[in-house]
Amino acid sequence: MGDVKRIGVLTSGGDAPGMNAAIRGVVRTALNRGLSVVGIKRGYEGLLACDISELNGKSVSDIIHRGGTSLLTARCPEMLEKKYQEKAADICRIMKIDALITIGGDGTFRGAAALSELGVNVMGIPATIDLDLAYTDYTIGFDTAVNTAMEAINKIRDTSSSHERCSVVEVMGRRCGNIALWCSITGGAEAVIIPEHPVSTEDVIKEIIQNRAKGKSHNLIVVAEGRGGSEALAKEIEKVTGIVTRATILGYLQRGGSPSARDRMEGSLMGYNCVEAIMNGERNRAMGVINGARISMDIKEALSCTKEYNDTLYNVIKVLSV
Ligand code: F6P
Repeated sequence: MGDVKRIGVLTSGGDAPGMNAAIRGVVRTALNRGLSVVGIKRGYEGLLACDISELNGKSVSDIIHRGGTSLLTARCPEMLEKKYQEKAADICRIMKIDALITIGGDGTFRGAAALSELGVNVMGIPATIDLDLAYTDYTIGFDTAVNTAMEAINKIRDTSSSHERCSVVEVMGRRCGNIALWCSITGGAEAVIIPEHPVSTEDVIKEIIQNRAKGKSHNLIVVAEGRGGSEALAKEIEKVTGIVTRATILGYLQRGGSPSARDRMEGSLMGYNCVEAIMNGERNRAMGVINGARISMDIKEALSCTKEYNDTLYNVIKVLSV
């Protein structure tokens, strides 16, 4: 374990359901192992402002079932700059933070990797609804977000089918279509539009017309935020086909909410494993899951991983759509 006596924990970037379970997992495990823990408010923004306070077992009571993050979060563009990275590293040293646990997505891990270059021992717990960290098969928050979006789609479907309309539903996913793909299969969409698989508006309209000819009385198209343009797409569908079409952008509806059992479990286990890794002397590691096995990987190596887009889910949607 080296000289680790005190650890710090922060959440950064977009909140994700299950972050609280991870904070709780970290705090309770650390206290159990005789470490002291400080919580840093608002991610790197709070670190730079030295908004840091001691946490105890009670500090994480009654949060496991809550969405969002009890430590608050922020996006902190300053952390892209060397002078702020140095300031953050200095604060870690002054505050005697021997290991800093960062909970978040890609931007969070980049900030952590920069701090590791400056001698801070950083650990990463992947939490983002987008499921877009290539080194791990799972990121905390994805399951809840997909379930929330799927339930919203169920409701939209009721109206769409009652009125025999077409619905375009836009779900989150900055640069990737994972939420959209999962929602399309589980919500029974007939088409999905994601950044990884460009498809023209003409082709989508052609498909709607063909499906109507095959007897479909309503239509459901899921669009990933990264592709965007759902309002314009809805207007174009209505103009060309004459089918009344409405766009619904789910937005933040799918980022909050009580975490699913899976996200509570992942948060708890990754929080626990992260502290255990620190106790075992690991430095600068990102926690993750690969093929069902719990892993930790050098945080810079984790950030350099890439995942090739795989068409399997996309093709399943095509087969199941009519
Ligand atoms: O990374 C999670 C996410 O919800 C993305 O799906 C989305 O593009 C982004 O965050 C939105 O970020 P913000 O809430 O800062 O606008």
